[in-house]
Amino acid sequence: MTHTLIYPSNSAHSSEGHLEIDGCDVVELAERFGTPLMVYEEKTIRDQCRRFQEGFSRLTQDFEVIYAGKALCTLAICALVVEEGLSLDVSSGGEYYTALQAGVPTDRIFFHGNNKTQAELEYVLDNGVGCVVVDNLYEMELLDRLAGARGNIQRVLLRITPGVEAHTHEYIQTGQEDSKFGFGLVEGRAEEAIRRALEAQNLDLAGLHAHIGSQIFELEGYRRAIAVLVDLIKEAHDNLGFECRYLNVGGGLGIRHTEEEDPAPIDAYAEVKVLGLQREMERVGLPVPRILVEPGRSIVGKAGVTAYTVGSMKDIPGIRTYVSVDGGMSDNMRPMLYGAKYEAMLGNKAEALTDTTVTVAGKHCESGDILIKDAVIAAPEVGDILVTPATGGYCYSMASNYNGSLRPCVLLVRDGEALGSWLSASLMTI
Ligand code: LLP
Repeated sequence: MTHTLIYPSNSAHSSEGHLEIDGCDVVELAERFGTPLMVYEEKTIRDQCRRFQEGFSRLTQDFEVIYAGKALCTLAICALVVEEGLSLDVSSGGEYYTALQAGVPTDRIFFHGNNKTQAELEYVLDNGVGCVVVDNLYEMELLDRLAGARGNIQRVLLRITPGVEAHTHEYIQTGQEDSKFGFGLVEGRAEEAIRRALEAQNLDLAGLHAHIGSQIFELEGYRRAIAVLVDLIKEAHDNLGFECRYLNVGGGLGIRHTEEEDPAPIDAYAEVKVLGLQREMERVGLPVPRILVEPGRSIVGKAGVTAYTVGSMKDIPGIRTYVSVDGGMSDNMRPMLYGAKYEAMLGNKAEALTDTTVTVAGKHCESGDILIKDAVIAAPEVGDILVTPATGGYCYSMASNYNGSLRPCVLLVRDGEALGSWLSASLMTI
């Protein structure tokens, strides 16, 4: 069997049997820029942005797709998603800084976080922000005061925890009642938060927000979350006169990391969200708010691959063969943190028979620093370029300098060019 790399879309094998991503030979890129190296294909990112825009525009004109920058927040990505007509969700002053440097219009920025600091709030208020997604009463009071001191009326959404458990790893579930995020529904907390936000002098409560989790394959949770949110909208409308103009139903659409995984298509995700909201609003007899969605991983995840160089190998007879690479948990925490599964291939032997089962280990001082258990690849040798696909989301953004390692160089490639070479590398990594 030869390995068919599942992503990105414009991958091919060169005449030398090397993996190419949109015309760029990964082995050459590895020589030029060093490894570990992250290579993103621009066309796949743009295609994903367009699929979201088209998927929603088929069903409604009143929608906004907001890219969740936590999946990958670099200057080039911020500029690219905005060019594609998306808005941007940032979850810290640092991501907001990157967005500003990338020239993202501030009215298209949504600011998230369960513990935004005063300094962060002052920073975004001073420079302008489209919407702050308020997570708790402490933040609401602080924001109201800071906006008032600046003579501003700040548009806000309230983050609601709808009590819906998404079917995903518990560390990336966020909609359940026992969560650090947002206003829960027990004891009328969410309605009380709506009342306080309506009373706040310097806040314009535009609507509600909920994000039930990430890497979701099963769309049913969204249906339930929307029903719960609409009940809250109705109650707050009847009791407080609240008019919900925006409903942000979060991100969360899963992607495929291995051939076995089978995520829902973007169109189905759009249908569940848009038709679900329309149906529920009709049920309660209120106008349909603008629907906002916040995809992160599904925009960048499959566009990126990581290339490593193979170093030492250790064969334990009857047990396993370890193949160590020059990165690991410092550039991809996901296997250790969530038990995430990836596949691998040898970028310099893309056409070779894949008949060797190995465990791909990182170079860090931890036994758990294993990227892939039982990867099936071509027979590996020292110096091979081992590539893991679908590492575009939450790998670079969670990378660390553990063991004094450098974070990988990140490239954006298109039509045979690594855009701007070192320039693009710096654009990609700020
Ligand atoms: N909106 C909010 C408020 C979020 O908290 C998140 C993700 C998103 C949108 C985007 O979700 P996505 O479409 O990317 O699933 N580090 C974890 C994922 C953490 C997600 C945090 N919030 C991982 O590597 O799987």
